Amino acid sequence: MADSLEATIEKVKAYLKEKEGIDYSDQVIRNWVEPSHRGQISKPQGYAEVSRSCGDGMAFFLRIHQDRIVEARFTSEGCIGTIAAGNMAATLAEGNTVYDAFDIEARAVVDALGGLPKGEDHCAELACAALRQALRNYLTYKNDPWKRSYPESR
Ligand code: FES
Repeated sequence: MADSLEATIEKVKAYLKEKEGIDYSDQVIRNWVEPSHRGQISKPQGYAEVSRSCGDGMAFFLRIHQDRIVEARFTSEGCIGTIAAGNMAATLAEGNTVYDAFDIEARAVVDALGGLPKGEDHCAELACAALRQALRNYLTYKNDPWKRSYPESR
């Protein structure tokens, strides 16, 4: 299985380079092809939906226990960079306290992905904006959890 994932990454990388002239890192392709943190959390303690002028959007879901992120998930129909950045932001956030997760910058997401192609750094900014909004949503209702409204049909 690991071999076939590596082979897939190589094939997709070569295809995108040839067809679109874009040289994505292995990490970007891996996080796009097999996004370990893509999905939803029902009744999340932190939730946000954010979109950008390019048309890409992202929803972020956080399961939080005693101010620590025990589970982070995202959904997006965005570009390759957006999916990869959303997955990396969720991966980096998981296990952190809410307060430390606020410090996760787009630069850290880009670095963890081995770089994003020119012009796609804003995909990481979208992911971090969605994460921060979800953290803010958690803090807003932290002391009044009964006031929390959950995303519909999630
Ligand atoms: Fe706009 Fe990816 S192209 S967030």
